[in-house]
Amino acid sequence: MALLERLLAVPPPLSLHLPAHGRGRALAPGLRRLLQQSPGCWDLPELPEIGGPLEAEGAVAEAQAAAAALLGAQRCWFGVNGASGLLQVGLLALAQPGERVLLPRNLHRSLLHGCLLGQLRPVLFDLPFDAATGLWLPPTPASFQRHLSEALAAGPLAAVVLVSPSYQGLAAELPALVALAHQHGLPVLLDEAHGAHLGLDPRLPPSGLASGADLVVQSLQKAAGGLAQSAVLFQGAGADEQLCQARSQAIERALLWLQTSSPSALLLASAAASLAHLHSGAGRRQLRRALAIGLALRGRLERIGVPLLPTADPLRLCIHTAAMGINGLEADAWLMERGVIAELPEPGCLTACLGLAPPRRVLRLLPRRLKQLRRALGGEPMAFFSAPPIPPLAEPELPLERAWRAPQVRLPIAAASGRVAAEPLCPYPPGIPLLIPGERIDADRAAWLVQQQQLWPGQIADTVSVVAD
Ligand SMILES: Cc1ncc(COP(=O)(O)O)c(C=O)c1O
Repeated sequence: MALLERLLAVPPPLSLHLPAHGRGRALAPGLRRLLQQSPGCWDLPELPEIGGPLEAEGAVAEAQAAAAALLGAQRCWFGVNGASGLLQVGLLALAQPGERVLLPRNLHRSLLHGCLLGQLRPVLFDLPFDAATGLWLPPTPASFQRHLSEALAAGPLAAVVLVSPSYQGLAAELPALVALAHQHGLPVLLDEAHGAHLGLDPRLPPSGLASGADLVVQSLQKAAGGLAQSAVLFQGAGADEQLCQARSQAIERALLWLQTSSPSALLLASAAASLAHLHSGAGRRQLRRALAIGLALRGRLERIGVPLLPTADPLRLCIHTAAMGINGLEADAWLMERGVIAELPEPGCLTACLGLAPPRRVLRLLPRRLKQLRRALGGEPMAFFSAPPIPPLAEPELPLERAWRAPQVRLPIAAASGRVAAEPLCPYPPGIPLLIPGERIDADRAAWLVQQQQLWPGQIADTVSVVAD
């Protein structure tokens, strides 16, 4: 019963983590009504009148059509396995086994799993690195153009994947990046897991669909009022009808391969209700109120000298703990002991996710706690982080699926130099691999990984799995 007891426990004073509904405060109203019905009455299978994401008729089909129309998309499919599941669907729909796909270095691991399942060849492009925070920054159009040309010079690509906004709320210049991919006839799959609310307020960057992305995946618990695991995949309105139809069919085939045959009616309703609410007048007003609190909080924190990253999303406050001389993981542990639960502890930063209904007490409590944190643990700014010693473009030496399934041995990181990685190395969170299966670990990379292990205490094992000789 440990899990149930945990779930029934009184929430801590300040929850600044996902889901964005903030322990129910910002649940989409339709969903709230559903959950107030007698427990479990909504837990239904794919009855004919309800249908499912792949059925042409029924309530789910109608809700999907309504959501696509609301957002100006060609089609949409609800998902019950998070953005992870739908990113994999998108990849499998756009590329055939053996084809190369261009992906950013800060890809979420689900995309790597998608490449594995589809036997795709990932080509990873490097990103600008910020030595002060240790974060990868979004690609600039110039850097992306360079990587794209280089990747194409080495062979054809089937698709490009972009991630924006990032977990920390950093956004790329999407319209320019998408246009560059389209100039080469390449479809773009956008991981917009953290950006369901983009384009809905002038203070936010444009959405992926408005930027011309071909497929867009949103998690509906990260920036909309949905439950964890509810997500949506949009197909943008393309000019070529035949191509769009073929792509819709490929998406449905991939969804059939990957999705459960019993999708939860509750999660499907969560997708429908959270999208409808977010895009309604009431949803936009809720978003406006949340943005106002986010901006006011940023102002207060800046006035007391808390270093913050300039994020494009005011609902993500990325605290630059390294500038206060504190590792983000240490800051997180300290704050947690005092009832402030943030998200995404990293060596240089800690991100507070304010969600769609931040409690007003955050304006008072967070500045106070961060002042205390600095007094307790702060000092001289941490040394700059070293950029990962990786090439601008990296293709695993051994196909991902071969490396990942090969007999493997575990070696101390420092002794792994010269060996081929058999597993990704992914501190949790944010689920971004520092090493991918099939990549050869050279001496510089091994030394950098040893350094990372010290910077991520408890998150990176002191051994790595490499392909056995
Ligand atoms: C950028 C990004 N993409 C995709 C995902 C996967 O989303 P989900 O947890 O809904 O499967 C995450 C999860 O944190 C993420 O940060």
